[in-house]
Amino acid sequence: MSGIVGYTGGQSAYPVLLSGLKKLEYRGYDSAGMALLCPKELKIAKTMGKISILEKMIGGDGYLQGLAGIGHIRWATHGAPSDINAHPHLDCSQKFAIVHNGIIENYLNLRRWLEERGHRFISETDSEVLAHLIEHFFDGDLFRAVANTVEKVEGSFAMAAIYDGEKEKLVCARRDCPLIIGLGEGENFVASDVPAFLDHTRRAYILENGEIAVVTADAVEIYTSRGEIRTKKVDEITWNAAEAEKEGYPHFMIKEIMEQPQALRRTMQGRLGGPGGGFALPELNLTPEEIGAIEQIYIIACGTSYHAGLVAKYTMERILKIPVEVDLASEFCYREPLLDKNMLFIVISQSGETADTLAALRLARKKGKRVLAITNIVGSSVAREADNVFFTWAGPEIAVASTKAYLTQLSSLYLITYYLAQEKGSLSGAELGEAGNAMLNLPDLVETILARTDEIQKMAAYLAPWESCFYIGRNIDYAVALEGALKLEEISYVHAEAYASGELKHGTLALVTEGIPVVALVTQRAIIEKSLSNIKEIKARGGHVFCFAQEGEATDEFQREVDGLFRIPATLDILMPILSVIPLQLLAYHTAIARGCPVDNPRNLTKSVTVE
Ligand code: M6R
Repeated sequence: MSGIVGYTGGQSAYPVLLSGLKKLEYRGYDSAGMALLCPKELKIAKTMGKISILEKMIGGDGYLQGLAGIGHIRWATHGAPSDINAHPHLDCSQKFAIVHNGIIENYLNLRRWLEERGHRFISETDSEVLAHLIEHFFDGDLFRAVANTVEKVEGSFAMAAIYDGEKEKLVCARRDCPLIIGLGEGENFVASDVPAFLDHTRRAYILENGEIAVVTADAVEIYTSRGEIRTKKVDEITWNAAEAEKEGYPHFMIKEIMEQPQALRRTMQGRLGGPGGGFALPELNLTPEEIGAIEQIYIIACGTSYHAGLVAKYTMERILKIPVEVDLASEFCYREPLLDKNMLFIVISQSGETADTLAALRLARKKGKRVLAITNIVGSSVAREADNVFFTWAGPEIAVASTKAYLTQLSSLYLITYYLAQEKGSLSGAELGEAGNAMLNLPDLVETILARTDEIQKMAAYLAPWESCFYIGRNIDYAVALEGALKLEEISYVHAEAYASGELKHGTLALVTEGIPVVALVTQRAIIEKSLSNIKEIKARGGHVFCFAQEGEATDEFQREVDGLFRIPATLDILMPILSVIPLQLLAYHTAIARGCPVDNPRNLTKSVTVE
């Protein structure tokens, strides 16, 4: 994934583009660049590395005179991160500049075709073909050149192009990658995501696949690829700019962890405990007959979203008494999945742009399944292509490590589960009432956990020097252990293995040596004794156990056995994942801080993975 920005208007474009790129840093950070339509020439600056390097590179009035331009932040796919491979890319005449997000699948053929016609390439990227195609097709009209270009391209793209001969015009197009036009007064903006222009405007057009926008300071015209003009609805962005910034926290990740009580309330608002009582989810668009017919649930996702799906397997099966299969999107597409007629098919994706998840969604639809998407991003590809969408309303998540998005995915899955139970009659009115009340109380309990950071910091201080550790749990605790371990690995680079507690003795116990940190989750009352014996097995081999247990009768016994105990406030056992993951997020964060890691932008990772 990469990020695109564009600006045209009365201000100097450089600072506007720079601040826009900084807001999109979560989309990629291996190189950055800008092209500005300055009075005498098209000025371009690009470099490998972070935006701060670009900022140091660009100086002097020359750059400040441009009133329009485009910028890019890259996460490499074709061609290693380098100054030359950084965007923008130019054509041979150096009059056209483009920025691109996505993958051009037929770029080798296009490159050969263009080289045969005398074009010279200087980068290893797929994107450079766009600049040369525009040059090839240009007959005085940039829109037509872009329209002809995108018609030749196979694959995914969001792109913006400028031409030195038209000092205030940007032409943009998209297919399968997001692109949004911010509408100002006497100025307009282009971006891969809304935070890039939220300081300037909250009004926007969300471009659809196949649309091409011609953007000048005073007008935005949107066309189909055949050149027919389109009338579009203006979207009002409801997030505020501050929500997309750090608000005084040192990192987006900790800000997003702290925002979780509010995010949870937003997910439940209007869906639980409203005037009619109970659970109300009209967005599922399921008739009572359709709900009654559901005999199986299939969930597809990647990474943290997959872990949310794994929790749902336990909880849905327990409540609805129907089988639930959870699959990694990247695996689902390459086996021969058996999709039954009476199956509810769900995909989960925070970004709504994950290529593997999108491919799985498309495959399921091709096989005739109606797809329900759980996503955080309105206007994302997953949201647009699914048959029905359940928005998590987590608000913008900028840190690469997913926290509040995961929590709101979990609560969305609980809402869906209880709603189905209510409609199917799988639970009694009293049971549903108890579950609803417990859910509404969760944001307050999350707040109490967040106030106990000092307890976690002590554990993090022990964990930080280790290069390896284990997370264990049984039943839903195992699903949460997987998420806790992933969180630690991705931001602190400590190798963390999550195991079902009962499985450790079948091999991995051999790796438990003196002092090795083991994080043990014990939240399910029915299996406390079994979990305690697993902890004793580890203690007997010298393991250093940090236990995260639901407050209750047995917690004092745990206190005596383990090296550190975090008491999680009590709720219904089945809802514990919403609470037990919070200290694990904090543990990952504080361990990464203690190890001096770049928490928000971990190495080799990107917020949304738009390649399969
Ligand atoms: O946007 P998605 O939910 O589809 O993303 C899926 C994964 O790439 C994502 O959850 C990833 O595992 C996170 N970095 C985890 O923190």
